[in-house]
Amino acid sequence: MVGASRLPSLSRISVVGLGYVGLTVAAVLASKGFKVIGVDTDEEKVSEVSLGRCPVHEPGLDVLVRRSVRRHNLSATTDYNAIRETSVTFITVGTPSSNDGGIDLSYIQSASRSIGESLSGKRERHLVVVKSTVVPGTTQRVIVPTLESSSNHRVGESLFVCVNPEFLREGSAVKDMLHPDRLVLGDAGDGSSNLLLNLYKVLYRKKMPPVLKTNYVNAELIKYANNVFLATRISLINEFANLCQLIPGADVNVVAQGIGLDERIGPHFLRAGIGFGGSCFPKDLRAIITLSRELGHDPELIRVTYEVNERRPGVVIKMAEDLLGDLKGRRVAILGLAFKPNTDDVREAPALKLVKLFAEKKAEVKAYDPVAGENAKRVLGNAVTIVDSIEECLRGADLCVLATEWDEFRALRPEHFIGFMREPVLIDGRRIYDPKEFSSKMRFRAIGLGTNDG
Ligand SMILES: NC(=O)c1ccc[n+]([C@@H]2O[C@H](COP(=O)([O-])OP(=O)(O)OC[C@H]3O[C@@H](n4cnc5c(N)ncnc54)[C@H](O)[C@@H]3O)[C@@H](O)[C@H]2O)c1
Repeated sequence: MVGASRLPSLSRISVVGLGYVGLTVAAVLASKGFKVIGVDTDEEKVSEVSLGRCPVHEPGLDVLVRRSVRRHNLSATTDYNAIRETSVTFITVGTPSSNDGGIDLSYIQSASRSIGESLSGKRERHLVVVKSTVVPGTTQRVIVPTLESSSNHRVGESLFVCVNPEFLREGSAVKDMLHPDRLVLGDAGDGSSNLLLNLYKVLYRKKMPPVLKTNYVNAELIKYANNVFLATRISLINEFANLCQLIPGADVNVVAQGIGLDERIGPHFLRAGIGFGGSCFPKDLRAIITLSRELGHDPELIRVTYEVNERRPGVVIKMAEDLLGDLKGRRVAILGLAFKPNTDDVREAPALKLVKLFAEKKAEVKAYDPVAGENAKRVLGNAVTIVDSIEECLRGADLCVLATEWDEFRALRPEHFIGFMREPVLIDGRRIYDPKEFSSKMRFRAIGLGTNDG
């Protein structure tokens, strides 16, 4: 067992992988006085951060990065040797889907190897914290052996490894990192999670969240179970949304409100819409489905949760065809491209799937997003014309689909649509508009809203 006092200093920290998670972890720790060095293989990202600039759109993160770099608490490099000067290293590299639905471990493996190499010959103790989402067994089977072979240290002697899954949400990452619901710390039974706990005690002081200490696999599993649970709530309410659309007078929002008041259920993750996306839910579901199958188990409920979600954009296309008939040559305006508001992340965004489906139907698609346009353009190429304003997007359109619930779209009134569109027809894919107000003034449909005229 290790005592917390046996790490030389907890104040110098390295974070490997400066994406949405890593940069948030790095900047929040730096803002609280830790000396943090971020390591990333992406030279452009490293030079941006080194200049105090934030390469991603995440509320509040730009201020923290700028301030921390100016105060010399945060720096960034591509040189793994920097890790030797720190005593704790967070691994926050990506774990995207591989072709078989599992996770692509190449980034984790190469990061672990590089960390190990930079620690070889280091005499002081070092703690490596696995924050990336990895399927159960990965830490013990892949990360620990890679670190050991490349560092020539035995884990549990001078090198320690903890699994500490991250639960922050893009769009509120800084807030979530500052006020987590709980900390999950997995170790190999050597008590090394106490080392990490000490760091978090300094970070959170009197506002220490509840802590769950466990082994590696449970910590890894908790992250997947968490995301699967939330995704299942979304698919479940979306299934009710489908049903509501077939029942005149039904409204899934009212149903969600009603069940959300049940203390056993609660109100969160019950918003019907065009489906979940982003860099986590879809790939985490695929990964746990793949792992389950490899272990000889068919995870039916998780599979169906995923399939229901895959069908969400198709529901909108059907609604559009019901309203307009053949979509060929029709001008479609898509408001919102990010997978959710307050982020520029378009990974697996339902809006992008929607654009592709409309393009397949030979509709002419224009889209607008307050911050995610550039990222979307890289994925969609010529399938869509990305414009710079709501007005440009709506002008001359036959149909508008509200795909991401940014605040600036909430402010729109029926008059805006009527004023700009050729044929003012609106599908509210995120349920942000008042059906009474909109239905009285224009052709209006919404996810999960039953209509009287089919
Ligand atoms: N994004 C989220 O909301 C979120 C939330 C919780 C957990 N997670 C998990 O956290 C992990 C990171 O997610 P993300 O969204 O921040 O990823 P990301 O793709 O935004 O960032 C990953 C970063 O790692 C860097 N990288 C890749 N290989 C590297 C290497 N060998 N050495 C150094 N840097 C390397 C990349 O250049 C990139 O900057 C994933 O496992 C993800 O599942 C993400």
